[in-house]
Amino acid sequence: MKGIILAGGKGSRLYPMTLSVSKQLLPIYDKPMIYYPLSTLIKCGIKEILIISTTDDLPIFKRLLGDGSQWGCSFCYESQNFPKGLADAFIVGDEFIGNSNVTLILGDNFFFGGNFENEIISRKYLKGGFIFALRVSNPKRYGVIEFDNDFNAVGIEEKPKRPKSPYAVPGIYCYDSSVVSKAKSLNFSERGELEISDINKAFLNDTNLEVKVLNENTIWLDTGTVDSLMKANHFVETLQKRKGILVGSPELSAFQSNFITKETLLILVESMAESKYGKFLKSNL
Ligand code: G1P
Repeated sequence: MKGIILAGGKGSRLYPMTLSVSKQLLPIYDKPMIYYPLSTLIKCGIKEILIISTTDDLPIFKRLLGDGSQWGCSFCYESQNFPKGLADAFIVGDEFIGNSNVTLILGDNFFFGGNFENEIISRKYLKGGFIFALRVSNPKRYGVIEFDNDFNAVGIEEKPKRPKSPYAVPGIYCYDSSVVSKAKSLNFSERGELEISDINKAFLNDTNLEVKVLNENTIWLDTGTVDSLMKANHFVETLQKRKGILVGSPELSAFQSNFITKETLLILVESMAESKYGKFLKSNL
């Protein structure tokens, strides 16, 4: 299973903060936003990761994340100059994906708890598509799943005016390599995007889409607005300060996934010993 982090877009809902810097480089509490989805992929046992962003922002992502070898991973980078929608990630990532299965995570999505990573680990050899559903209070903002009486998914709608259920599709998706040809045959939606919901519909029409409802212990936040960004900051602060749990740490996740040894982890920690993050990481060992 390979991974893609989509970290493009203009971040216009966060202007002026994102006029000169990519949204996914803004901090959530003590680390850059992209650390969180990256750590999620690493916890899913995914080492080979493609980071997609704008041509302007890619050099900064490269400076931050490098080639991934420090965390036992291998990162590559591709640019997407015009934000054409989430499904475009599979067209940009065509060569990278090859014949592999792939997990796409959105660079501004934050996941915590519920052990959902294990669901992805166990679908390494997936055939078809695998997505999650999570109960939310404002489904109109998301892709929404319609279920029949036996809780089988029977439909998916993007940002429906009248949602057929309160279950939204969060921003992490797993597919086999047929996702590339599906993405290439999509038409642009009314809002001018290649929609991930249309990819999911295509797998559903082929009766090849598995939907797993996440339990209530899973926290999912998207951080694309000032208020949701603030909420994410407070949430991480509470987890780290109050509960002593370090979240969104690629170093710790890489160690827990056996990508790096304890010795390597200690060297990484020492290189950041001056910062709050480095100190907290050290106290978590
Ligand atoms: C996108 C997808 C939507 C999904 C959401 C998750 O929405 O189109 O289906 O539920 O991400 O964050 P957008 O970010 O384009 O509003």
